[in-house]
Amino acid sequence: MNAIVTGASRGIGKEIVKLFADSGINVIAISRHMYMVREFPEDAAPEEGKGKVIPLSLDITNVTILRDKLLDVIKDNFKSKVDIVINNAGILRNKPFEDYIGKEINQLIDVNFSAPAQLTAMLIPYLKKSKNAHVVNISSMGGYQGSVKFPGLSYYSATKAALAVLTEALAEEYKEDKIAFNCLALGAVETEMLKEAFPDYEAPLKAKEMAAYIVEFAQNGQKLYNGKILPISSSTP
Ligand SMILES: NC(=O)c1ccc[n+]([C@@H]2O[C@H](COP(=O)([O-])OP(=O)(O)OC[C@H]3O[C@@H](n4cnc5c(N)ncnc54)[C@H](OP(=O)(O)O)[C@@H]3O)[C@@H](O)[C@H]2O)c1
Repeated sequence: MNAIVTGASRGIGKEIVKLFADSGINVIAISRHMYMVREFPEDAAPEEGKGKVIPLSLDITNVTILRDKLLDVIKDNFKSKVDIVINNAGILRNKPFEDYIGKEINQLIDVNFSAPAQLTAMLIPYLKKSKNAHVVNISSMGGYQGSVKFPGLSYYSATKAALAVLTEALAEEYKEDKIAFNCLALGAVETEMLKEAFPDYEAPLKAKEMAAYIVEFAQNGQKLYNGKILPISSSTP
């Protein structure tokens, strides 16, 4: 199986990449920073039974460059077939609603919504070649309808909600093509993102624990779910 994971340099995405590789799934791991290269050198063959990891240093908001580089790598390494896409890259800002400026708002919309949408669009022809294609969009409890919202996370929550609703729309649009789309609205997970935004908060889950759930869901969740927004949180929304 072949997977593409965004936001692979740290946090949940980095753990997802490692777990996919451990279970024999080949992964293109996308993020701007290239820490992954140290663990997965470009020319190293994967160990017996493990998947190959191909780190790609790309900003997902530079859609033209993303398309130029990524599609070549897919053709060369995945024989043009993609089975799993995890739209995990995201950014969080925590500040009063009236203090946001246009540039920050656009960046949140770009990274959390527009870029994963456009990445998914460019991958449709390759997903159509899989018998079990599954796109998993990583949202947040803040973007889950009816959940308790956090003051300061207005734009983050709204962009995550947009990604969630896009998931529902795409499941309907591509149901004849047998591409499943689901969205996981995550609760708090111990990562740098959470620590930077809420330094004193202790999350109940480690990145590796959440990644293990996502990796299992990406491989099997599409048998039970399509077009669903699922809250993955032990607290009451
Ligand atoms: N941690 C939580 O409590 C929590 C809760 C709910 C939802 N989530 C969601 O879960 C996902 C992962 O979160 P996390 O906590 O693991 O965050 P993280 O530690 O901050 O990791 C975010 C990843 O996104 C990548 N990224 C950001 N902007 C990018 C861009 N323009 N192009 C390519 N990659 C980009 C970063 O890599 P580079 O900087 O190297 O590009 C990094 O690898 C996010 O979508 C987040 O919103 C997290």
